Amino acid sequence: MRLIEDLRAEHELIERVVGSLRTFVTARTAGQGDPADGARFLAFFRHFAGTFHHDKEEAVFFKALAEQAELPAHRGPIAALTGDHQRMGALLDGMEGLLDGPHETPEARQRLQNLAIDYSRSLWRHIDAENSVIFPEGQERLRRFHVRELPSRPMTDLERAARDAGLALAAAYPPQHDAEVHRGDGCVACPSYGATCDGLEREWWTDLEWEDMWERMSSD
Ligand SMILES: [Fe+2]
Ligand SMILES: [Fe+2]
Repeated sequence: MRLIEDLRAEHELIERVVGSLRTFVTARTAGQGDPADGARFLAFFRHFAGTFHHDKEEAVFFKALAEQAELPAHRGPIAALTGDHQRMGALLDGMEGLLDGPHETPEARQRLQNLAIDYSRSLWRHIDAENSVIFPEGQERLRRFHVRELPSRPMTDLERAARDAGLALAAAYPPQHDAEVHRGDGCVACPSYGATCDGLEREWWTDLEWEDMWERMSSD
């Protein structure tokens, strides 16, 4: 599905730019880096990762899963990932004003570092959950309802400018690797698992899927 290919490609850029944000924040809290780049990072995450990417996920893909593949919209993976979008948006709002600020106090520096760490780890793990669970499983469930393609859309001028700013930032601030983030595939690696989502099987499986599994297990 072309929409999913586009979303996966966008993930690759978003992953890189959020690593660059970590590099930038480390530089800024040491009094280095260009303060004006703070607004460029915000524009990238708001207009490219937010309005363009998250909006396509919610308004096209998640909507189709709920309306055309009969999956629950208000609990399970769709609700958990939509909640992530909102929570990450709030973290971004919290960084506004700190990214380009003079950071005169150790508290301000620490607050910015904490927000950048929370935002980047949340975003990386969110991308893992989408790439490994909702994209492949959602596509398969749409296929069962004969939905093989969903509409994508071109970027607006504002979104394209934000994307280009992200590319330039990723080149200027080599993405920082975070050895402490717990990344991985599948529901068990997802931060929402056991908290706001009980996992794919409990949330999405049909009676037929459970019967199939019990049959396979009893024939083993
Ligand atoms: Fe998402
Ligand atoms: Fe995504």
